[in-house]
Amino acid sequence: MEFEQVKRQKTEEINRMLCRFLPEESGKEKVLCEAMNYSVAVGGKRLRPMILLEAYKMFGGNDTAAQPFAAALEMIHTYSLVHDDLPAMDNDMYRRGQLTTHAKYGEAMGILAGDGLLNYAFEVMSEAVCEQGANGAKAMSILAKKAGVRGMIAGQTVDLEWTGKPQTKELLDYINERKTSALLCGALMAGAALAGAGEAQLSVLEQVGNYVGLAFQIKDDILDVIGDESKLGKPLHSDEKNEKMTYVTLIGVEQAEETVREFSNRAVELLDTLPYENPFLKELLLSLITREY
Ligand code: IPE
Ligand code: IPE
Ligand code: MG
Ligand code: MG
Ligand code: MG
Repeated sequence: MEFEQVKRQKTEEINRMLCRFLPEESGKEKVLCEAMNYSVAVGGKRLRPMILLEAYKMFGGNDTAAQPFAAALEMIHTYSLVHDDLPAMDNDMYRRGQLTTHAKYGEAMGILAGDGLLNYAFEVMSEAVCEQGANGAKAMSILAKKAGVRGMIAGQTVDLEWTGKPQTKELLDYINERKTSALLCGALMAGAALAGAGEAQLSVLEQVGNYVGLAFQIKDDILDVIGDESKLGKPLHSDEKNEKMTYVTLIGVEQAEETVREFSNRAVELLDTLPYENPFLKELLLSLITREY
């Protein structure tokens, strides 16, 4: 079967799986659950859960033990987007082809839905840890750190503080390694940890995720300038509007595209040094070079 077709199937499987882990819309807090579920269910590429599940497979996992962690990671990623779109942050009105959560439910409910998704991710993971023991605990610890104050939240913080100010490549890499690479590292590492991978292998995967994330964010910045809004599902020129410096403003679209290729190829070369294989995962990472959304 062709790669694109397999990817579509896997995306649909992840969508069905996610529905099973999201909260029931009931009680006096019904609207909170609706806003949380809306944010997740409107779509998205599901890249992070897909990578987590594929890393689990790559290291020999062959059951459903990784599913709660994959679902939780997509909840964490989605909360990061819900908060990223808030008026106090990037102030964007469209995401995944629909109104952003705060645009649909109001700003306060946007904040609460983000809080809810972050906490619910840990409700789901900790329950799985109680059943699964050590590998699950390791995976949760990895995801907590990668999403945390030295991970994704650090990246968002430095991104915000340097808005409108001149930046170097080094500073941009610092931001991108945290705001974007961290969750992708988490996906690879948590998946592998669930299958019992050791520290040396996790460290290789961390480097892989780092390069994947750098490439992914630079591509995101390129698409923000020259992408197709209807495919992206979010408004173009968000970075310009918010006076964000990116690789595109620093070195131009063409060289930025070259850097995406370079970082993605480096990621895959590193992945190839591991004594395990997952051709789909490799192709998935390479496909991000030419992605249009
Ligand atoms: C968007 O992530 C935020 C970045 C890190 C650039 P995605 O491009 O993976 O967004 P979805 O999940 O497909 O909506
Ligand atoms: C945000 O980067 C990355 C997150 C951690 C949410 P961007 O602000 O460029 O992401 P988009 O373009 O809004 O998806
Ligand atoms: Mg942002
Ligand atoms: Mg944004
Ligand atoms: Mg962007």
